[in-house]
Parts: sequence; C-alpha cells; structure tokens
Amino acid sequence: MSEAKKEVPKASGENSKAAQKPALESSKGASKGTAEPSLEEVERQLAKEFKEYSVAEFFKKNRQMLGYSGKVRSLTTIVHEYVTNAIDSCEDAKALPDILVEIHPVSAKVQREEIAVGDGVTTRFDIPSHVVEADVLNVLVDGVVLALKKEYELKNEKRGRDMVKVLVLKSPLAKGSKLVYEWAYGHLRVAVQDNGTGIPKSKAAQAFGQLLSGTKFYQRRQKRGQQGIGASYATLFSQITTGKPIHIKTGLGNYKVFEADVSIDAKSNSAVVSNEKEYSQNFRGVRVEAEFAEVTYNRSEYGVYEYLRRTALSNPHVQISLLEPAGERVEFLRASKDLPRKPEPALPHPLGITTSDLMDMASSTQSRKLSSFLQTDFSRISSDKVKDLETLVNAGHKSKEPLYVDFNRSPGSLTWPEAERLVQNIQKIKWIAPDTSSLISIGEGQLQKSLKNLLQPEVMKVVERKPRVFRGGIPFLVEAAIAYGGKAGAEGDAEHSRVGEILRFSNRVPLLFDAGSCAITEGVKTIDWTRYDLKDWESKPISILVNFVSVFVPYTGAGKLAISQEDEIVQEIRAALMECAREVGTYLHSLQRIEEQEYRRQIFFRYIGEVSQSLTDLTPTDKKMLEAKLRKIAEQRTAVEEAKDEQEKELEEMEAKAAKEMEEQG
Ligand SMILES: Nc1ncnc2c1ncn2[C@@H]1O[C@H](COP(=O)(O)OP(=O)(O)O)[C@@H](O)[C@H]1O
Ligand SMILES: [Mg+2]
Repeated sequence: MSEAKKEVPKASGENSKAAQKPALESSKGASKGTAEPSLEEVERQLAKEFKEYSVAEFFKKNRQMLGYSGKVRSLTTIVHEYVTNAIDSCEDAKALPDILVEIHPVSAKVQREEIAVGDGVTTRFDIPSHVVEADVLNVLVDGVVLALKKEYELKNEKRGRDMVKVLVLKSPLAKGSKLVYEWAYGHLRVAVQDNGTGIPKSKAAQAFGQLLSGTKFYQRRQKRGQQGIGASYATLFSQITTGKPIHIKTGLGNYKVFEADVSIDAKSNSAVVSNEKEYSQNFRGVRVEAEFAEVTYNRSEYGVYEYLRRTALSNPHVQISLLEPAGERVEFLRASKDLPRKPEPALPHPLGITTSDLMDMASSTQSRKLSSFLQTDFSRISSDKVKDLETLVNAGHKSKEPLYVDFNRSPGSLTWPEAERLVQNIQKIKWIAPDTSSLISIGEGQLQKSLKNLLQPEVMKVVERKPRVFRGGIPFLVEAAIAYGGKAGAEGDAEHSRVGEILRFSNRVPLLFDAGSCAITEGVKTIDWTRYDLKDWESKPISILVNFVSVFVPYTGAGKLAISQEDEIVQEIRAALMECAREVGTYLHSLQRIEEQEYRRQIFFRYIGEVSQSLTDLTPTDKKMLEAKLRKIAEQRTAVEEAKDEQEKELEEMEAKAAKEMEEQG
C-alpha cells in the first residue's frame, strides 16, 4: 500500500508540486476561448479543488486501491488490517500475542421503500444506489413479488459519466399500482482484540478516525503496518456501508480503560468521537469492533479463515482464536514462545527508492540542503557519492540552466521531474551493499515448529537461504518449506481429499490474491517437479511455502498482493524450493520402494502354502520342511532385490548431493 499512499498527496494537493502540472496544462487549453476564465483563475480554482479533496474522500472513491473489492476480499482486508496492527502492538509490548477475532452475523432487517405509482405507460425505473448495493432485492407490485427475468430485468445504463442501475418491467405498471422495493444488507460485526501496548486515550481517536495518522512510515523498519491507513480506512468502510461508527476499547494496563465510538468526517479527514466512557479495569491492549456490509465470510482460499491459518503458520509465536459467524470456534495455537527479533529502524538504501518516496522524504526532511539531505536521510551515501550523483545528474547542463539541479538548494523545492532524474541516476552509481541485519526471517527452527503444529506432516523440509540482492543492491532473503502428508495441502473436492497448495508470504504477511503475477508462483512453475517424483504435486497433500523477506518488497501493484518477478528473486525462490523438493522427493521415493518390496514379498509368500500343498499331494514329502525351504528361497530373492534398491538409493543420494553442491557454487 505504500504506492497507494504516495498517490494521496497528488490527489489531495498536500504536495502541490505534483498537482501543479495537470493544472497548468488544462488551464492552457481553457484560456483559448474568449468567454473563459483567465489562466490564473483556472489555476486558482483547480488548486482550491485539489485542496478540498481530502485524503479520506480520495480513498472513499478509490477503495479498490486499499484492497476493498469483492465481498470476501473486503472482509479479509479488514481482518488483515486489524490483525497486523494487533501483532505489531504485541511485539512492541514484548508480549506473546493472543489475538481474538470474532465475526458475528448481524441479523439483516428487511427494508421497504415505495418507488413509484403506476401511470399505465412507464416501464423503466432508476434504482436508488442504497438499494443497488443491497443483498436481497425483491420487487413487489401491489404486494406481490415479481419474478426476475420473467416479469422484470435489472440493467446497467450509462448516463453521462455514471452508470445507473435500472429496473425494466416487461409490461407497464398499471395505473395506480404501487411499485415497492424490498432489500436488506447482510451485516457482519468484526471484533479484534489484542494484548499489546494499548493506545493512549489522546491518540485513540486519531489512530482510528484519521487517515495517514500513523507514525511508523518514516521509520523504515521491516514491518507489517504501512502508513496509517489500515485502521482508519476500516472505520471509513464501516461508515460507508452501514452508516455506523466503530467502537474501541483500550487500556494501557494501568487500570484505566477508555471506550468510545469513532467515525471520520471525510470532508476534513478528522476523527469524530462520541459515547466516551472511562472506568477502571485490569485490561491492556485494544479491542476494536465494527459493523460492515458488502462483506462475506467463507472458508475459501481468499477468506478470513485461510488468512488467519496462514498468519499462524508464518508467526509461530502468535495465538489466534477465531469465532466464525456460524458460532464455531477455531484455535490456531501458539507453536513457540520465542518472540521474533525486533527489526532495527533502517535508513533506506538509495537503490530501493522510488521517485515518490524521494519526494515524500524531501518534503519532510530536517536538512536544509539537498546534498546534506541525501547524506543524512539515506544509508550508504557518502559526500563523495553525492558529488558523483551531482556530476551525473548535471552532465551536459550548465549551472543556472533550467535543467541544472543545484545540490545546495532546499530539498523541499525538489520538483517531480528532478526527483525522477535523481532516481534514474542513482541506479548508475556503484553503492556499498546495504546492511542485511535488518532482514528478519521466520527462521528454520521456528518454521519447523509451526508447520509441525498446524500441519502435522509426514515429512517436511525447511530451508533458509543466505541474503542476496536484487536490482543491484536491495537485500532480500528467501525461506521456503515443503510439507507432505498429514494436514498439509488444501481441502480437495472429494471428501477427505487434499490437494497441493502454494502459501505465499512477504515479510510473514500472507498474500492471498493475484497469485498469477507473483514471483513465488513463477518460482514454483519453473521447477521440473518430475526430478523429485513430485510431478503431480497439485493433486497431493502438499504445502509449498515461501516467505520473501526484505525492507523493500517490490510489489506488482498498490494492493501489495504479488511480488514482482525480478530475475534474482525468482531464481532464489526456485533454488530454495529445489532444496526442499529434493528431500521430500527422496522420502516419497523410499516410501514407494518400501511399498514395492512389501508387495513382492507378499506375492511370494502367498503362493508358498499352495505350492507346498500341491507338491505333497503329488509326492509324499514333509510339507513343513518344504514350506520352510521355499520361504528361504523367497527371502533370498527379495533380499537381492532390496540390495539392488539400496544401491540405487545410494546412487541417487550421491547425485542429489552433487547437484546441490553445483547449485551452491553457481
Ligand atoms: N491494536 C493496536 N494497538 C496499538 N496501537 C494501534 C493498534 N491499532 C492501531 N494502532 C495505532 O494506530 C496507528 C494507525 O494504524 P494503521 O492505520 O493501521 O496504520 P499503520 O499500521 O500503517 O501504522 C498505528 O500506527 C498504531 O500506532
Ligand atoms: Mg496497520
């Protein structure tokens, strides 16, 4: 969502440098006509409009940018925002997270509205927007429900720039007949509670009622939260879909508890607080409760259940208790009592920076000159490197020329095109590699514990690779696992059947959407699974897990759903998975071998009794002795086969070892 945030200043006019450009361009066109306002007037008007368009309003119109598209996904997004905040806060408090997630159905009350009285002619009626978005829609004429398709249709109609939904009756509404709509919103109430730091009363309203209120953005830690949009946007979404405020309860563990309703004034992007309550109770943490419509709960691979299962997998120190709408309680138990290492705040490495990052940072820096800003606000930029950059950026331009970038200027005066040129030239300089201590993986041992805890697989292999860099200098690390058997894999179509699944994570956060464009999916696809006897892994009880760790994750879009398919990244994912596959494959292979040996032995032994009987019938011999002899022969034969198998296995293992060594050298 960092991209989403960067869009904001442009649209809201807080960062008018970016906003000026379109304003000037359109005003040029406007000044041509004689009766039209002057260039200055247009510019003033546009600037005013930009200012009035608050961040909250911007996102109200662009909710898909924040993950609010589709009913299942919207609910997952809400839970994701609350749960990431909860875990972040517990880690801040150095407490083992106990997270409670409750999804309560709120009985939907059917609402009725008279739309029109028939005139004997009209067949088309606009459907009001509050009805269009509802779950149940009945159309009644004089109290009788009409049949969709037979008696009426719902159509989308373009009107100007907007799409409107229209009801079209097959025959005109009779004179005096009453047309009534019935609808209901299926609401869900979501509650998330944690045992973290809690929020001080003075900050609580802001945290949940004002967009971009977060304080974490400039810390540049590898973290879950983004930039103070998650919690407050959920508030706005509750408000948009149900008209209700959210409710928070917070305590710092000092026997002072604060509760309040919070909503957002979208026009001014400020918190509105009501029903405040203070009392004494032993409570530390936050409980947030909000009601939503346009959301659906299910156990699909995109739903809340799956999101939490995966969160538990990648966070063995977290315990999550989920109450599903139907009343079922699911416990994802803690697998480890070790809290993860806390990431140190790290200054951004120049190679990880985008133009809008640079603009954001330049507008809020304490430094007075561009040159000192570059040295103090970034890691690994020395004064020599600043000089190199200055020379590169200004190659071919003389001082005082329009394109000349004076590094003694104030960072705040940096324009978008200048920032773009700086970023382009940054890529051409050889920088000192960034510090990799900021990379926080789940860890081999921890991941093993958590896979064992949640999947109880027959066999698993976990691999943590060494840090590498992409784009010439951004450090990252890949950890991967393959688990087979037990509860590994996803539920298949047939009862009790399980199928292969890919579990994608970036910095421990599950990625549920946009699998197709993700580097992790690509890494899985490039592997020749037949080499590991896993050709049909998709129809086996297998979980393939990859966690991508980096302070800067190159997401494919603003929604933070997929990791971009950079070569170095795909290669690392591939290598990590191959290591896992080799071990799991060998295990499956040996299982198969044992099965075959057993089968061979069974065949021999099955006939021994019969054969000995027939022989004694023919010639009077001692049946017992005959049987014993035949058994001995059979054992010798199968032993020879087994020895062969052993040899084969050893050879295979040697091959695998050689392959691994080669990979590591390459
Ligand atoms: N459960 C919580 N416990 C403590 N603080 C919280 C909690 N939820 C939200 N906050 C505070 O509210 C701020 C805004 O949250 P959010 O909008 O999700 O932004 P972000 O997580 O990106 O900082 C957080 O930075 C944090 O300070
Ligand atoms: Mg957050």
